[in-house]
Amino acid sequence: MKQRAIRFYDEHLAPVTMREEVLQGLASRPRRIAPKFFYDERGSRLFDAICELPEYYPTRAEMGILESCAEDVAQLAGPDSTLIELGSGASKKIRLLLEAVRPRQYLGIDISREFLRESAQQLAHDYPWLEVHATCADFMRDIELPDGAIEGRKLAFFPGSTIGNFEPHDAQAFLARVRRLIHLDGALLIGVDLKKDPQVLHAAYNDSAGITAAFNLNLLERLRSELDAVVNPRGFKHRAFYNAQRGRIEMHLVSRRAQEIRLNGCRFHFEAGESIHTENSYKYSIEEFHALARGAGLRPRQVWLDSGRLFSVHFLSVTSRSRPRIA
Ligand code: AVJ
Repeated sequence: MKQRAIRFYDEHLAPVTMREEVLQGLASRPRRIAPKFFYDERGSRLFDAICELPEYYPTRAEMGILESCAEDVAQLAGPDSTLIELGSGASKKIRLLLEAVRPRQYLGIDISREFLRESAQQLAHDYPWLEVHATCADFMRDIELPDGAIEGRKLAFFPGSTIGNFEPHDAQAFLARVRRLIHLDGALLIGVDLKKDPQVLHAAYNDSAGITAAFNLNLLERLRSELDAVVNPRGFKHRAFYNAQRGRIEMHLVSRRAQEIRLNGCRFHFEAGESIHTENSYKYSIEEFHALARGAGLRPRQVWLDSGRLFSVHFLSVTSRSRPRIA
């Protein structure tokens, strides 16, 4: 079969948005920069390297789960579905589902433009029977489907525990948006990292090879190269720890000394030890996540775990409302 061209849609995330968001984040207390800005080309590659680290268990655990649950997922999803992947990145995980689910269409949505384009093209090449669509967009804000191009029952796929980046309240709002996206007959397959021994969590975000540190510090490189900020990434260090009270890993960039970041004519002063909060990664027990999903109008249908009970994959469907009775 001849390879079909991919259909690429671009919501043209203006660098203006990044500049404005970063300016706002640096001006607020505590200072913060949203984790979605990790994923420029280099950041996406560093994240791929993180996924291979011996200490970073989520990717391996989730891949293992997906391998063993793919047939069940296909059963639950039914035939002729459209697979919509949120945050498709390298699109490795989706491959475990494609053969089993055999969707007619695939739509990948990601914020990293060239990375998305390459992986969509690779998918179209490897699965000639699949109609491949790709949208460069910030799905953390809003999820839009290309006009009229997507048909059939929708199976949304949100792997990697990216849901953990949201505050729980926002995570629920996000799930409610996904619910609207998939309509009454659709479903969501979502990977969620579990609560566990804090030492295991700590090691996963403080790898001995220093890749997570490079990933975190790459944010500052990006400020320099893309926004012309004056900042020396070597003046900051990576810090990650488990906040047990809030059930989340926190990542920060900690200033090694008193210094300034200059951006857009603004000067942001840092004392030694002052930090920029760059990521939260919430961990959920199965029960906690079920409660979150139910609150968003999604019904937990099935959950799969790896043998080490490190990670969970949930299949959720839309809670059908009671239909009005015929008069
Ligand atoms: C992609 C958000 C799920 O929180 O584990 C990995 C990102 N940050 N190492 C995570 C990440 C540092 C990852 N998520």
